[in-house]
Amino acid sequence: MKRLLKWIGGIFLALIILGILGIYFSSQTRLKRIYEISEENVLIPADDESVERGGHIFKFRGCEACHSAGGEAYASASTGPGMQSHLNPPSQDVPLMEGSIYLDDPAIGRVVASNLTTGAGGVGGGYTDAGWVRAIRHGVRMDGTPLLFMPSTEFYYLSDEDLGDVIAYVKSAPPVDNVLPKSQVSFAGRVVMTLVPQITFIPAELIPHEAERPVAPAVGVTPEYGEYLSYSCKVCHGLTMSGGKIPGFPASWPPAPNLTWGEGSALPNWDESGFMNTLRTGVTPDGIELRGEYMPWTSFQHMNDDELRAVWAYLESLPTKAYGNR
Ligand code: HEC
Ligand code: HEC
Repeated sequence: MKRLLKWIGGIFLALIILGILGIYFSSQTRLKRIYEISEENVLIPADDESVERGGHIFKFRGCEACHSAGGEAYASASTGPGMQSHLNPPSQDVPLMEGSIYLDDPAIGRVVASNLTTGAGGVGGGYTDAGWVRAIRHGVRMDGTPLLFMPSTEFYYLSDEDLGDVIAYVKSAPPVDNVLPKSQVSFAGRVVMTLVPQITFIPAELIPHEAERPVAPAVGVTPEYGEYLSYSCKVCHGLTMSGGKIPGFPASWPPAPNLTWGEGSALPNWDESGFMNTLRTGVTPDGIELRGEYMPWTSFQHMNDDELRAVWAYLESLPTKAYGNR
């Protein structure tokens, strides 16, 4: 009997060890995969106007919130994997992209938004124009391996012009020395990404790299352009924008409110200027203060009037859905 138990115990132990090795090697293959992506012809301008426009996009699309030290405060206050941190970065005119430890959580790993400058610890010096395009649009590093957590799934939709201007801005940043540790997925994170098919920390796995490029709508105060500006809202407010619990985010996060005109939505009582004011100040027409650590209004506040109007036009055009029909 004793011998039998010993045998069973031994087999059990061997299975556990095999399981651990299996998870390690299968996740390692995905983390070290080399992506071969055809080069895309994106013009990278260098004139002041394009650089300035790139800076505008860099701010309202949330790049600055993660890639500047503003994100660091978030990392220490964070309770879990916010794909978006978007804390209020210090307001100054110099491009802020010196990098930050965005999240350090044993359940996921260490997520470090890179120093994008050419200073010590920065990746800027090693990148070619085609490399920047691949990183931002496809989520792939200069050496072909995938970036972790960098939300390229949203930036995949950026038009050639917007992407070119953003890259022009990134290239214009003065060097800042900031040596940071490397991003890595913890063992618990590897278990999750191996066993739960819906969860990956590798955005490159979700991007149709060789598909025909989506056509970006013309700039204007139109629902179509508003949708183009709103891809990042959908991570939290859902594909239909009807809100609900955000999948894959920690249980401690509040659910996202309904942004359609359906049941449980505050928006039917708002007007365009009330909405614009909400995204500029973080206070809704109902007097509710939005918590910037969950709802990244401190990035969106940089949108200009026409951009905010386009987003409102998009919300107004949405089919009505009851709360939580993501
Ligand atoms: C949610 C936070 C977040 C946002 C928003 C974000 N990034 Fe990143 N980004 C990251 C992280 C994290 C990495 C590093 C991933 C790694 O090391 O595997 C990264 C990596 C990069 C890289 C590759 C750097 C390298 O180490 O090779 C580039 C280029 C980049 N980001 C540009 C941008 C631009 C431009 C934007 C806005 C359009 C942006 N990022 C928005 C988190 C973010
Ligand atoms: C990282 C997740 C996240 C993203 C991205 C995000 N939101 Fe939110 N949003 C939230 C959460 C969570 C709340 C509730 C915040 C609170 O209660 O403090 C919220 C609240 C709001 C509200 C207030 C609604 C109400 O009923 O009071 C509006 C309006 C809003 N978001 C619009 C947007 C728009 C427009 C975008 C994209 C441009 C966007 N959000 C992107 C998470 C997000």
